[in-house]
Amino acid sequence: MKTALVTGGAHRIGQQICRTLHQAGFNLIIHYNASNIAAQTLADEFNLTRADSAIITQADISQTKDIDQLCQSIDQLDVLVNNASVFYPTPIANINTSDYQKIMNTNLMGPLFLSTALADQLTSSQGCIVNIVDIHGDRPLRHHTIYNISKAAIAMMTKTLAKELAPNIRVNGVSPGSILWPENDAELNQNQKQSMLDKIALNKQGSADDIANTVLFLAQSNYITGQIIAVDGGRTLNQ
Ligand SMILES: NC(=O)c1ccc[n+]([C@@H]2O[C@H](COP(=O)([O-])OP(=O)(O)OC[C@H]3O[C@@H](n4cnc5c(N)ncnc54)[C@H](OP(=O)(O)O)[C@@H]3O)[C@@H](O)[C@H]2O)c1
Repeated sequence: MKTALVTGGAHRIGQQICRTLHQAGFNLIIHYNASNIAAQTLADEFNLTRADSAIITQADISQTKDIDQLCQSIDQLDVLVNNASVFYPTPIANINTSDYQKIMNTNLMGPLFLSTALADQLTSSQGCIVNIVDIHGDRPLRHHTIYNISKAAIAMMTKTLAKELAPNIRVNGVSPGSILWPENDAELNQNQKQSMLDKIALNKQGSADDIANTVLFLAQSNYITGQIIAVDGGRTLNQ
């Protein structure tokens, strides 16, 4: 039985990645930061379907002590999915170190140190890492300077770790386009949504399923490493 750790697994895309991997036979370590109830509900659902197939674990991945504690609690691991992230605008006129630290520590430092701290377990299993990137790590999204930089960096992290951790651990990425509308601080109005949809070749948003299926594909593709697959409905054709 293989085990996958999905960060930010309680909601939205992370939750669908957990569902898809669980359905494919993986046991799940569902990581969360604040969403304890949603994570536990998901684990309960999985354990009803298959006994002892899911546990939950809490960590703020922007804090190294939390990362260390999380990694020390894991003995066996086949797949690490670095999905958790923060996304909100950082207009250049108001750019500040507090947002810089929050976004870079969550979107880059967390995934990097989780990957290195779990390298022994992943080496033992000849496992893999799948990083959730963003097409805006390549082509910047206006007013999101720090987020864009964080995603460009995790794209490079994917390639550099693929080299450093070979031949024992494969490292790949999935780069979503527009999948689920942002919530809270990053919410868009109707005009902004329509203007984004107009630029997508397939003329619609993707689904969390589209991302999760690509994660599963990479988890099962034993001769692919160092690759980042854009799942964006052709959005990058029009950028
Ligand atoms: N949504 C899209 O259309 C889209 C487009 C391009 C790329 N992406 C990428 O796809 C991934 C998933 O997107 P999403 O929209 O589903 O993500 P999301 O809802 O914005 O965030 C996913 C989870 O990240 C966790 N998280 C945030 N800060 C954390 C911290 N300091 N420590 C630990 N966990 C933390 C949260 O967990 P808790 O709820 O437990 O606090 C949250 O549920 C992200 O990497 C995102 O950048 C998404």
